[in-house]
Amino acid sequence: MIEKINQYKGIVLAGGEGTRLHPLTKVISKQLLPVYDMPMIFYPLKTLIKAGIKEILLITTEKQQNNYMNLLGKGEDFGIAIDYIVQNKPDGIAQAFDISREWLSTSPCVLILGDNLFLGGNVSELLVASMNKNRGSTIFGYKVKDSSRYGVVTLDKNNQVIGIEEKPKIPKSNWAVTGLYVYDNNVIDYVKDLKPSKRGELEITDLNNIYIKKNELDINFIDENSYWLDAGTKDSLLEASIIVENLKKKNIDLF
Ligand code: DAU
Repeated sequence: MIEKINQYKGIVLAGGEGTRLHPLTKVISKQLLPVYDMPMIFYPLKTLIKAGIKEILLITTEKQQNNYMNLLGKGEDFGIAIDYIVQNKPDGIAQAFDISREWLSTSPCVLILGDNLFLGGNVSELLVASMNKNRGSTIFGYKVKDSSRYGVVTLDKNNQVIGIEEKPKIPKSNWAVTGLYVYDNNVIDYVKDLKPSKRGELEITDLNNIYIKKNELDINFIDENSYWLDAGTKDSLLEASIIVENLKKKNIDLF
C-alpha cells in the first residue's frame, strides 16, 4: 500500500551512552554536542521537518531526557509537535519500534539516527519522494571508501538490494546504509520477529533484511552533492563542523 505523505510520523533516536566520545559525553548526550553553531540534534530534526513531518518522537536515555525537553520543548519553535520517550538501555536501533508502537499507532514513519547529518544536498527532497512511493521500507545509500564501518548493501545488476550486512569485514559494495529509514506501519509487527544479535542488540539491519526477504525494500542513492556524516566519532564530529562552516560561508542551503 502506498502511504499518504501527511500520515507519516518521525522518530529521532538519540539514546546510547556515546562512549566512543568520552570524556565529551560523560555528562552531556552526544546528540547535544555542538556541530558548528547548532546542537547535533537540530540537524536530523531539520531533515525531517524539511520533508514536511509534523509529529516527531524523540527517544533518549532517562538521564538526558530533561536536557532535550529544556532545549526543544514541545516543538513550537520548529512549528511541529515533539513527544518524548525513554529507552532504558541501548538494546538496538530497531528497538525504537518496540518503544514507539503505541505512539505510532497506525502511521507509517521515518526513523533518523540522532547522530546522522545529511547536509547540503537534496536529501529532504529524496525523502519526500521516498515517502510518497514507499511500498514497505526505503533506505538511503551513500558511497563511502570504508564501508565496513556501516551496514553495507549487496546490489544485483539492476541496483536492487538483495541483502545488507552489518559491518562486514569484506564489504560487497561501497554503498553504506545511512541512518535514515522509511517504513510502513508493518514495522511494528516485523520488529517482534527480531532476536538480539551477537552483540546483544535488535539490529536495524536484521529488520531491513526482513523487508528484503518479502521483496518490500527499495534503496535511494544519495547524490555526490550531499554530505552524509555519522558524527559518532571525534574525527567525524570535527569534520561535520567544518563542512557546516564551509556550506554556510558559500551560502549553500544545509537542508
Ligand atoms: O550511521 C549509520 C549506521 O548506523 C548504519 O550504517 C548501521 O547499519 C547501523 O547499525 C548504525 O551503526 P552504528 O554502529 O553507527 O550504530 P550505533 O550503535 O553507533 O548507534 C547509532 C545511533 O543510534 C547512536 O547515536 C546512538 C543511537 N542508539 C543506538 C542504539 C544501539 C540508540 O539511541 N539506542 C540504541 O539502542
